[in-house]
Amino acid sequence: MTINRTAERVRSFGTSIFAEISALAVQHGAVNLGQGFPDFAGPAWVKDAAAEAISADLNQYAPYLGLPRLREAIAATWSAHGWREVDPANEVTVTSGATEAIFGAVQALINPGDEVIIFEPFYDAYVPDVVMAGGVPKYVRLYPPLKDEGGRMKDEAQHSIASAEPSSLILHPSSLSWSFDPAELAAAFSPRTRLLLLNTPNNPTGKVFSPAELAQIAELCIQHDVVVIADEVYDQLVFAPAVHTPIATLPGMWERTLTVNSIGKTFSLTGWKIGYAVGPADLTAALRAAHQWITFATSTPLQVAAAVALERAANCDYYAELRAEYAERRDLLADVLVGAGFPTLPVEGSYFIMADISQAGFSSDADFCRWLTRDVGVAAIPPSAFYADTCDLPLLARFCFAKKPETLRAAAERFQARGFRFQA
Ligand SMILES: Cc1ncc(COP(=O)(O)O)c(C=O)c1O
Repeated sequence: MTINRTAERVRSFGTSIFAEISALAVQHGAVNLGQGFPDFAGPAWVKDAAAEAISADLNQYAPYLGLPRLREAIAATWSAHGWREVDPANEVTVTSGATEAIFGAVQALINPGDEVIIFEPFYDAYVPDVVMAGGVPKYVRLYPPLKDEGGRMKDEAQHSIASAEPSSLILHPSSLSWSFDPAELAAAFSPRTRLLLLNTPNNPTGKVFSPAELAQIAELCIQHDVVVIADEVYDQLVFAPAVHTPIATLPGMWERTLTVNSIGKTFSLTGWKIGYAVGPADLTAALRAAHQWITFATSTPLQVAAAVALERAANCDYYAELRAEYAERRDLLADVLVGAGFPTLPVEGSYFIMADISQAGFSSDADFCRWLTRDVGVAAIPPSAFYADTCDLPLLARFCFAKKPETLRAAAERFQARGFRFQA
């Protein structure tokens, strides 16, 4: 008899559809639009700064809070964006990616049995983070914009997706966004709720929460004395007319929010795993208490380069150029998908685009993505991976546009080669 030595807290995790699709993509030589990271280089001046830091022998442990220069650059970034004057000594912590900041914050802020509100679809790390801390996830659905059979928008308050026949989603409706039902959000709060995990701009939906939605969330969090972990790693990847508002800047929210970010997303250097959290001294102290025993400190030379990145980006057009380049990639991929017969949903932020696959003849998004990867040679991720409850899901596929134009064009060629309707 084999003994299962895996601890209960991780036993349910298993391998994910991401690993399966990645392996399929390699096996079939597919153009990989599933993986959520850039296939192009980060800025040369940031890479040079890292190389210089290594040559200068800045190769020993950094202080566990993060290098003072990087914490100061993070505080200066908040100030330059007009968000808040933050104290780099007591309100900023550098972590091993946003991943560690979120994990550490959840460990630091809940006790076993506490409830944590998570919007679904969610970034996949949130649920394991809560489960490993003994918490209980409570889900609130984000609903995509849908049209009814007559082609009119459904009444947003009804959100009757559960009863809807498979229907086409709206194509490029610039004013329409994924939305939550305020009554469902209010009902998710209980006396046991301790945390709410918010991701805006959102992976995988591309939604940017509006100031009005943030105000609704804030009001409930204040009323129920709930802390927010705000995962804002795509804060610089927002496309007009959408505007990113950190929830920490809303009245009454600074004192109950830890805002998490990542150099990897903003500077196309995801493998560096430099992240950070900004928040009031008491929440920062809690996070630091956990962080000192999780990774203690993160890469010293890469922290130096991250500081250079933020310092220089504040004084040039880096963020505007980044957004312009990503807007072009987003439009190119949308054209490719629409041309192949898969209407796309609006992308307000992040580097992901959702496509409507309801007319493709599959009843499961995972089967569609397996087929697309294997038979067409284009890899995408099934959004069902981002839901706890997979009943009544819209049929969509998530594609990543953090890719070179030639990669996106290669996907177009795969669709064309398979005789997909093509107009791009
Ligand atoms: C919403 C979201 N949060 C956090 C992360 C992880 O960030 P990092 O690579 O800095 O750990 C990702 C990466 O895909 C993400 O999409």
